[in-house]
Amino acid sequence: FFQTVASPPSSNFLLLGPSGAGKTAFTTLLEAKSSLSSNKSHSTHTSQQSTLVTVTLPPTVPTGSNRYRSVNDPSLKEATRNPIRYRVRDTPGHGKLRASQGISELQTMSQSKDIKTRLRGVVFMVDTAALVDEATLRDTATYLHDVLLFLQKRAKNGSSSKRTTDIPVLVAANKQDLFTALPPGAVREKLEAEIDRIRKSKTKGLLDASEDTGLEEEEEILGNDEQEAFSFKLLEHEAGVKVDVVGGAVKGDLQEEFGSGVRRWEEWVGMCL
Ligand code: GTP
Ligand code: MG
Repeated sequence: FFQTVASPPSSNFLLLGPSGAGKTAFTTLLEAKSSLSSNKSHSTHTSQQSTLVTVTLPPTVPTGSNRYRSVNDPSLKEATRNPIRYRVRDTPGHGKLRASQGISELQTMSQSKDIKTRLRGVVFMVDTAALVDEATLRDTATYLHDVLLFLQKRAKNGSSSKRTTDIPVLVAANKQDLFTALPPGAVREKLEAEIDRIRKSKTKGLLDASEDTGLEEEEEILGNDEQEAFSFKLLEHEAGVKVDVVGGAVKGDLQEEFGSGVRRWEEWVGMCL
């Protein structure tokens, strides 16, 4: 006899990123794809509150603990019967709500000692068709910089005795269906270059401030203090914070073209489980 008792969701993911990136659209799609469809529809208007939804991983998506799940694998049947559930917290991306919601959620969720609520990963969503605009690029990179700086501090402050668990970051390069969209490689380069600029002006600001007050500010800089340009590789090397940039689309024709426009993000989620 086979029972279809869904396992309780035990992994949390946090969805961050600027306003209009497609976070709520993604959350809504995941819910619709999940066998737990609740018919709750979230408006795709600018969000003002964060929401927590429970969704399922498609059975054909491999997980970190079951990496080579093949179509003939008996565990696939098991996965179909008993899909893996995880939770996604959608946050509002508006600049004025980031400190009180996105960043504050990141602080709370990453500090959770409870295995049931511990944060497995951060999905930072960007609108790849909007990044050609200088102001949007600056805004997006500033938010990502703050998220990565928090994760770097967390990784460095973790005592060696009780090692902090890694929280990897997925930069979900959304809206690849639009013909004006930058490909993921260009998105990575633009974000890295812009974060480098932000970090340089921050370093300079700190130096100026310490000259003024004569105080040695011990404010941390993202990456390292060397002259080396910032890159996600450098961050991984310096602080063990892993960042992947992966293209996709919540809307559009990618559904037919690639099977699903969000498949590769689900695969990233699966690898974290
Ligand atoms: P905030 O709640 O303000 O932080 O924004 P959000 O990130 O939740 O954005 P939302 O999901 O509301 O999406 C913004 C707009 O982008 C909506 O009109 C979506 O339909 C649209 N959108 C989302 N994903 C895609 C995509 O992959 N392609 C295209 N063309 N449009 C998309
Ligand atoms: Mg939203």
